[in-house]
Amino acid sequence: MNGKFISIEGIEGAGKSTQLQFIADFLRSKGKQVVVTREPGGTTVGEQIRNILLEPAEQPMSEDTELLLMFAARAEHLQQVVKPALQRGDWVLSDRFVDATFAYQGGGRGVCERRIAALADWTLQGCHTDITFLFDLPVALGQLRVDQRPQQRDRFEQEQQAFFERVRQCYLARAQAEPGRIKLIDASQTVEAIQYQLQQPLEQLLSNESND
Ligand code: TMP
Repeated sequence: MNGKFISIEGIEGAGKSTQLQFIADFLRSKGKQVVVTREPGGTTVGEQIRNILLEPAEQPMSEDTELLLMFAARAEHLQQVVKPALQRGDWVLSDRFVDATFAYQGGGRGVCERRIAALADWTLQGCHTDITFLFDLPVALGQLRVDQRPQQRDRFEQEQQAFFERVRQCYLARAQAEPGRIKLIDASQTVEAIQYQLQQPLEQLLSNESND
């Protein structure tokens, strides 16, 4: 693969959207072609799957269905968007990727990690992110920010605080296990302070690329 692959992660209300735009603008200012995308979604089929996953429903969705739909959307995303872009030498910036499945379906729902890892091996086939920014903040603060949004809460946003605590802990454990790839960002800081923290790892990745 010629390009670089970056994802951003965090619990609801972590401020991912603002930072996604900043990262894209920063990389474009350095002359990079950037493909901004998201999971679940990023393709026609993936966006349809996203609607199924996020739409609040009267009948609860089974954990296995949720897990498999996440990976179905991801398989499509990888084939149609991520791999072709990386092969062209573009930079791919994805709002969430596979770490979200370990955190939400693994940590949040309690699905066995080995099961997720098996699906990840099958679907990703070695396509991993170069950097994942984890925007971390206390769950209560994230929930406050979600409350301030005009739109109705989606199926995940309707979960209880304890669910997001488990998601957060799982993300933090992953960041601790893979500090080279997962960069932990304190998302309770000001937007400017966060952007300052993002620049150093991005500069590093840019200089790695020119040395490749
Ligand atoms: P977002 O676009 O607002 O981040 O919403 C996507 C939701 O989907 C969010 O609540 C996290 C959830 N999700 C999972 O549960 N597992 C996954 O693998 C991914 C990519 C997202």
